[in-house]
Amino acid sequence: MSLRTFPHLRQFGAACVLALALSSTASAQQDEEKTPLGKKMSAMNTAFKAVGRQVEDPSKNANTLEQLATIETNAKAALAFEPEKKAKVPTAQQAKFIAGYQAGMKEFLVTVEKMRAALKAGKNAEAAAIYDAMKGQQRDGHKEYRIKKAGAPPASI
Ligand code: HEM
Repeated sequence: MSLRTFPHLRQFGAACVLALALSSTASAQQDEEKTPLGKKMSAMNTAFKAVGRQVEDPSKNANTLEQLATIETNAKAALAFEPEKKAKVPTAQQAKFIAGYQAGMKEFLVTVEKMRAALKAGKNAEAAAIYDAMKGQQRDGHKEYRIKKAGAPPASI
């Protein structure tokens, strides 16, 4: 097989290189668009998805605990940032808005701790129920404190 016999292969190769270049630019741009808080959230998201896939499996508990540590580190770091949405809240209500955000994040951290205890005790069914509670906290936190952007994924993501 040669490029001379199959000239379209050359075009195909060029198209692949172009597609790769475009997709890496797109993801770099997405990353640049993220706020510092958004970056902490993304790190939490990757670990949280992994937890969701394996929380019921006791043989994965060591790794699930590691993912939980990642979630905890990033949730604690998130406390140091203010949501972008603050700017859209009237000045007189901003302090209350930030206090509410921080309280929500601290509540989430308490739930993280509960899941850690359940996993350490080998109570995986309980940990799975706690996972659902965390999804609820995520949904509520996003509904209240995250700007809804056009074309953005739904609040639960
Ligand atoms: C399982 C827990 C959570 C996960 C996996 C998660 C995940 C995410 C993701 C993926 C984003 C979008 C990041 C981006 O691409 O810009 C985001 C944004 C955000 N999340 Fe969460 N989140 C969680 C819990 C929470 C909680 C509990 C709160 C508030 C109490 C919260 C507040 C926010 C805010 C305010 C933003 C927008 C970022 C900004 O304003 O700069 N999240 N989250």
